[in-house]
Amino acid sequence: MKAIIPAAGLGTRFLPATKGTPKELLPVLSKPVIQYVVEEALEPEEVDGVIVVNSPEKPQIESYFHVDGGFEETLRARGKEKEADEIHAAGSLPVSFCYQREAKGLGHAVLCASRMLRGDEPFFVLLGDYFVPDRQMCVKMAEVSKMHGGASVIAVAPVPEDQVSRYGIIAGECVGSLSDMNATGEKEGAVWKVTGLVEKPAPEDAPSHLFIVGRYLLSPRVMELLATQGPGAGGEIQLTDAMQRLLAEEEMYALVVDPAEGCDTGTPAAWAATNARMALADPDSRDLFLEALGNKAIEQLR
Ligand code: UTP
Repeated sequence: MKAIIPAAGLGTRFLPATKGTPKELLPVLSKPVIQYVVEEALEPEEVDGVIVVNSPEKPQIESYFHVDGGFEETLRARGKEKEADEIHAAGSLPVSFCYQREAKGLGHAVLCASRMLRGDEPFFVLLGDYFVPDRQMCVKMAEVSKMHGGASVIAVAPVPEDQVSRYGIIAGECVGSLSDMNATGEKEGAVWKVTGLVEKPAPEDAPSHLFIVGRYLLSPRVMELLATQGPGAGGEIQLTDAMQRLLAEEEMYALVVDPAEGCDTGTPAAWAATNARMALADPDSRDLFLEALGNKAIEQLR
């Protein structure tokens, strides 16, 4: 099975930085965001390769995943074995590329990868500006899919009522839970049968408080539906529109996850918070990070 990582967006919320560096290559500690996403995508045992949907304007992403033997040699000659091993590891990941020539929306980006898939296989989609440090979200989604005969599964998380209008929200009902969690309702580990997907509803119209997080395990039928999908919200080809059509033909499930499981990097504030969170969790960085922050800033955070 393959995992698709769309990374061809314009990154307008992160301008001007994204004029020079693609959003997906911004660092979290010393690693670019997209490497976390690729490593996460490879965690489920079913996944044997990753397809990054890139833009021709962002060639740095493809360069990053190439082996650079010359640079590696230079590092080794200078005794920098750990760093050489790290760039070697990044260059050895099973990543292939396809191109979205114009940013026409998430659904269109996913469709761009269709020729690189076997037509009869489900596939994962992982957004390229969001990652899950413990890499377990897709593994759990694969488990839910197995529990329900290979059906499509999306990850969802609870959001406060006054924020539902910012997100894609699901309709449906709780039908069970991950085997080891015994969860119900909108609690982490609960499994819902999805009956509808609503983009950015008003709070009074929202069918639940569960928003789509950015991790999808989709039936191959979605690719066929995307091929005939017209533009939706914002004039873009939306993945959720094709998924809504899928609901008329196939079952779909949603796994409720803890929103704190994932790290967003799509805006300067979210990226800064993600770096702070990862620095605090990293034994090599924690003390230096707190020292660099200084007592006054730490006091202000309290
Ligand atoms: P976003 O909507 O968060 O990214 O898409 P964006 O469009 O690049 O950013 P803003 O909103 O302008 O700031 C989530 C992921 O989907 C990819 C993005 O690169 C990002 O990793 N994407 C989005 C595409 O590959 N193609 C698109 O047409 C849109």
